[in-house]
Amino acid sequence: MQFPEYRGRRLRKNEKFRTLVRETRLSVDDLVYPLFAVPGKGVKKPIGSMPGQFQMSVDHIAKEAREAHRLGIPAILLFGIPSKKDEQGTGAFAKDGIVQQAVRRVKNEVPDILVITDVCLCEYTSHGHCGIIDHGQVQNDTTLEVLAETAVSQAKAGADMVAPSAMMDGQILAIREALDENSLEDIPIMAYSAKYASSFYGPFREAAESTPQFGDRRSYQMDPANADEAIREISLDVNEGADIIMVKPALPYLDIIYRARQEFDLPLAAYNVSGEYAMIKAARQLGWLDEEKAMMESLIAIKRAGADILITYWAKDLAKALGR
Ligand code: PBG
Repeated sequence: MQFPEYRGRRLRKNEKFRTLVRETRLSVDDLVYPLFAVPGKGVKKPIGSMPGQFQMSVDHIAKEAREAHRLGIPAILLFGIPSKKDEQGTGAFAKDGIVQQAVRRVKNEVPDILVITDVCLCEYTSHGHCGIIDHGQVQNDTTLEVLAETAVSQAKAGADMVAPSAMMDGQILAIREALDENSLEDIPIMAYSAKYASSFYGPFREAAESTPQFGDRRSYQMDPANADEAIREISLDVNEGADIIMVKPALPYLDIIYRARQEFDLPLAAYNVSGEYAMIKAARQLGWLDEEKAMMESLIAIKRAGADILITYWAKDLAKALGR
């Protein structure tokens, strides 16, 4: 086909034609909405670098979950900021830990929304690393036990799915085995399989108060320069028992999402992270672009690349934009 027989503009003429031939559609059904739980009551504290997002006590978390459910959003992803952090990150698996409390409250008040919990230690450790430190290094195998215990305690509190994000080798297997041993074989794992050491997590670290106190996360999170390695990381997680695989961040890694879609047949999630959200919010505050259009374009790009599930701070805004 070529010009003048082919004229691409014929089918771009008006919105009806554009709708008719559109290849990718956004749906509220694909969304996961991340929330940050903090101790206390009646707390709803704005996160400076993430306009529109808040640290919330569990009463507000439940309210927010109800609102998300009303908008048709199928799932929330919970992060917790404990009242006290320690070397071992014990708040992560405490029976009355902040995430455990939030899960119970949400499942009690809004039973129909899926509650996914982040399984990691960085929000709970005084040093801000995702694992246990010994001799100045993040220890892989000792961390696995703590991650497994955390996942079990979250699932026992009522979490519908656990999402390990610590990037320790063998974490999916360790968690799968621990869940199974505790008769939680029906709880799926959404694995942060290809998680890069990214500067785009900056605003999240303000939100979760989880900036590493020394060094950085490059000894466990992936080098942004690597793509083949992402495929290897994902296959390992698939073999260890992941039910859903994830690429994170999303926009700077669309090639990885695309390749993951080609090579694996499991449901694929993409995390549109805090920095991707913050950049557009900041540009909008400066009057430099239209936030809603930039949001739509970003999210559709992630879906077009191959993601099935979109984890995004814009979940409510998108649901509203889609007419909910
Ligand atoms: C680790 C975790 C992080 C994010 C999700 N889980 C931060 C990190 O690895 O430093 C980042 C999410 C975002 O930036 O929106 N528990």
